Amino acid sequence: MQRMKSPASVVTAVIGAQWGDEGKGKLIDLLAENFDVVARACGGANAGHTIVVGGKKHVFRLLPSGCLHTNAEIVLGAGMVMHLPTLLEEIGLLRNEGMDIVPRLRISHEAHILFDFHKEIDGVLEERRSKLGKGIGTTRRGIGPAYMDKAARTGIRMEKLGEDIRGELQKRADDLHVSYGIALDAEREQKQLNDAETMLKSCVTDTIQLLHDRMYSGKRILIEGAQATLLDIDHGTYPYVTSSSTTIAGALQGLGIPPNALGEVIGVAKAYCTRVGAGEFFTEVEGSIGERLRERGGEYGSVTKRPRRCGWLHLPDLIRSAMINGFSCWNITKLDVLDTEAVIPVGMGEKNGKAIMQEFVGWKTSTVGVTAFDDLPKQAQQLVVFIEQETGIPVRYIGTGQGREEMIVR
Ligand code: IMP
Repeated sequence: MQRMKSPASVVTAVIGAQWGDEGKGKLIDLLAENFDVVARACGGANAGHTIVVGGKKHVFRLLPSGCLHTNAEIVLGAGMVMHLPTLLEEIGLLRNEGMDIVPRLRISHEAHILFDFHKEIDGVLEERRSKLGKGIGTTRRGIGPAYMDKAARTGIRMEKLGEDIRGELQKRADDLHVSYGIALDAEREQKQLNDAETMLKSCVTDTIQLLHDRMYSGKRILIEGAQATLLDIDHGTYPYVTSSSTTIAGALQGLGIPPNALGEVIGVAKAYCTRVGAGEFFTEVEGSIGERLRERGGEYGSVTKRPRRCGWLHLPDLIRSAMINGFSCWNITKLDVLDTEAVIPVGMGEKNGKAIMQEFVGWKTSTVGVTAFDDLPKQAQQLVVFIEQETGIPVRYIGTGQGREEMIVR
């Protein structure tokens, strides 16, 4: 066995600081071409990022958005819960556009398989909670139930691909029927597994060994965080959270990468804030202002199409996320969405469940496509500097539009 010295800091991570949908994909798109490996660590098809392939927009759920960079190896880590038909669909879609990613796709043999029955349980549990007025508003993609199985040590992992698991599934049929009223279709689940095996068998591997081999040969790894810090199972707004660890620690754990390999952790936050699903949101604004933010920011769930709840930036959230993740810098996204606002409130704290706001004068002029900080209106510069001062972390990237090039890099 080779004894390993500490790897160099060859790993960069992009982590959401709010409730997801911060627009991490655009930064990843910008960074990915300089990396040899792009990796996802946790979560499953609850994530959604819009990717433009062959001039058409597609929403990817399991593949990292950096997968379009043809040289990069793609790693799906052990912390993930994998709905295989969704993965095959994404691979097929890319094939139709002339890109075969299978030769560079590596899937951890430790990752858990998310079956259709997990999705059905998710729906049943959500209905039950809703009847009690305690709905979480999950994406109904089976994430919670798949992690329930993992924690209960009854999960089925990718290493089982190719095996006949009908007997194992059948043993659960009675329980699923009694507990959730679900009729398990073991034949269908097995067929999906067989279909996946045909395409993916060569992709399933020990990704820990692979990542370490790459690190020790000086290859650069980009981790794409899924969901975001305030949805973290431990540190988020529990119980209105997802079921995985969405922080940098969770990403390292999910991939089996040691902390001393970590270089930069880039925190991504919108210049305002959104949330899908239930739970606290102190700076939420409803009515015409909320609607304006939603329309200008295109704030509709990419997986569920649900209108996102919209509100103002809440600095205590950014400070807390920075504490947990040790961000080296910020990417503030979608600054241009605020272009039409006369007044821009920023949450500074809360008292008795109400946010304490500080108001900034809006710039009321277009910032779309601005690529130099000095070309931003003075009021917009002041807002960015304020974020830096309050969080103690530099803002290195500022999003100023949907296009790839519409970004200030400082
Ligand atoms: P689950 O992850 O489907 O169990 O959903 C739990 C909570 O996390 C719900 O409020 C979802 O709306 C939210 N959520 C899960 N994934 C994402 C995401 O990628 N972006 C935004 N919210 C998410």
